[in-house]
Amino acid sequence: MKKILMVCLGNICRSPMAEGIVRAEFAKYGIDIQVDSAGTAAYHVGEEADERGQAELAKHGIDISDERAMKLSPYHMDEYDMIYAMDRSNFADILAITKDNEERKKVDMFMNLAYPGKNISVPDPYYDGDEGFVKVYSMLKESAEVLAKQLK
Ligand code: 4NP
Repeated sequence: MKKILMVCLGNICRSPMAEGIVRAEFAKYGIDIQVDSAGTAAYHVGEEADERGQAELAKHGIDISDERAMKLSPYHMDEYDMIYAMDRSNFADILAITKDNEERKKVDMFMNLAYPGKNISVPDPYYDGDEGFVKVYSMLKESAEVLAKQLK
């Protein structure tokens, strides 16, 4: 495993937070795996992560101010070793651009790490207040911890 991609819709709320949290977990264990994030939609390409998500992560000592949104492309299906969807709709959109079984096998729901087989979606916090981002942080942290323990 060399490269992991986190995917949501806009790549400004959930997946950049997942990227930052997983990177921080990997750093704790010295795990040398590249983590990136992308969105299935292009609305926010080039933008920074939502300031509410940046503020929530800053509370936990994680800085994602360098992250910029990019759109998911079929090329990423080959480039990354694992591709994690934040919700069921992202999962379906990712599968739709895979070309074969080898690529499909790399795709999973991120929350299946903490809750195997449950296909739990991380709720989109974009239209919520700050509390939505607090909830997203605590969910993502659970799966990020499991991923780091699996890969250490
Ligand atoms: P994300 O949240 O998928 O977690 O980045 C969203 C961000 C923007 C939009 C939707 C969801 N939007 O419709 O612009």
